[in-house]
Amino acid sequence: MHTNVFLLPELIDSDTIDESCCVIIDVLRATTTIVTAFANGARSIIPCHSIEQATEIAKQQQVLRGGERNCVKPETFDLGNSPAEYSSDVVRGMDIAFTTTNGTKAMLACARADKLLLAAFSNLSAITSRTAQDSTLNIICAGTDGEITLEDVLLAGAIVHARTEQPLAGVNDQATLALNTWKEIIASDVPATALFDKMKESRGGRNLLQVDKVADIQFAANIDTTSMIPTRHPSSLVITASN
Ligand code: MLT
Repeated sequence: MHTNVFLLPELIDSDTIDESCCVIIDVLRATTTIVTAFANGARSIIPCHSIEQATEIAKQQQVLRGGERNCVKPETFDLGNSPAEYSSDVVRGMDIAFTTTNGTKAMLACARADKLLLAAFSNLSAITSRTAQDSTLNIICAGTDGEITLEDVLLAGAIVHARTEQPLAGVNDQATLALNTWKEIIASDVPATALFDKMKESRGGRNLLQVDKVADIQFAANIDTTSMIPTRHPSSLVITASN
């Protein structure tokens, strides 16, 4: 079993990820929000490079527009990037054109992966069981504005940890770093509290605290609340979900 972590999309080795199974992580908040949207019945997410692209799509088909810039909902959008906004009365049956600063960029950077899944703490066990048979798994962290972020490293480490229950033929050094970071959480007296505290200290967490979004950090720190796995369609790049 090979497990590679890329702590930023810029660190991806494209020969390694082409035609492989990739898991994308943007815990605060894009992947957490997308998992929530599907858990609440959204039909599809269309990842967009820009606000303009999402707006173009909205002119051609009936979609909600969701996402953020600087952690804030773009003025003309229907939804921001808080998971709480994606409740079933709002998103059930809907297609959503979605753009965020770092998360959607990471998804679009892996266009040539064979299989692309989105991970959050909320679907951790579902992701680890769905990928258990993949002999090579590449885990890509979105980071924040080109900087590695602790919250993404923690989830990458949790996924690597689940795979270490099987014999590991190979991990890259970034996977070892992520695994060691996660082991500090599980060795603490109250892991759930330690995880929430670390996520508040992280760069993504500090950005959210500045805009009074502590509830989003708390939400994103909840483990295994759904088995929904967002999966990108190989040719259309649209994301749908299954459990
Ligand atoms: C991003 O893609 O940069 C994040 O999801 C930012 C955020 O927390 O809104």
